[in-house]
Amino acid sequence: MTQDELKALVGQAAIAYVQPGSIVGVGTGSTVNQFIEALARMPVRVAGAVSSSVQSTERLKQHGIPVLEAGEVTSLGVYVDGADEIDGAGCMIKGGGAALTREKIVADLAGKFVCIADESKKVEVLGRFPLPVEVIQMAVPQVMRRFVAMGGQPAVRPGVLTDNGHPIVDVRGLSITDPAALEREINQWPGVVCVGIFARHRASVCLLGTSGGVQTLAYDAA
Ligand code: 5RP
Repeated sequence: MTQDELKALVGQAAIAYVQPGSIVGVGTGSTVNQFIEALARMPVRVAGAVSSSVQSTERLKQHGIPVLEAGEVTSLGVYVDGADEIDGAGCMIKGGGAALTREKIVADLAGKFVCIADESKKVEVLGRFPLPVEVIQMAVPQVMRRFVAMGGQPAVRPGVLTDNGHPIVDVRGLSITDPAALEREINQWPGVVCVGIFARHRASVCLLGTSGGVQTLAYDAA
């Protein structure tokens, strides 16, 4: 199966976690695009979605799925999103699509994070994928110096501003053996809006697309 076919497979599989008539949290990316297509095919649709990006909002609206602001809900049953990497505990690197901050905000509202990913995303240790960090512009040089001091190679993502108007710094060369500790640490740095480590908001379950079908990986509650 191609990577696109695997993405379509897990996008469809995630529908099993979505209650018809409910409000669902929707992530961002090519795998989530497949999930949105599957949402549009539900015989009894969701009542609406809280979206993590302008891109997903547009796609949901094209399918006639109402999009609510995050502030209009107090909680969500399920948040469905992709990942750039996921480790054996369900911790993830996210933000390859520059939507990490809103993704974490919507994930925070949800009781369950359903990660949908093809098998190339599964890793032993996070860090092969460059770690995205959304940073307020004036703090970028200092944040980059901090990453260099810890052995990383940071670079500003060229030509990209997030939906919130901030640059992204991508950091190569990190081996993230304690995702929760590193997430806590980077979150303390002045000017960091959001780091793309999802340990505090790790996956509850991962639907992993493999050539043998969908593997369901369930993780212990945080
Ligand atoms: C966007 C993300 C995406 O979930 C991540 O980049 C995976 O994307 P794709 O499904 O296209 O591989 O974090 O900010």
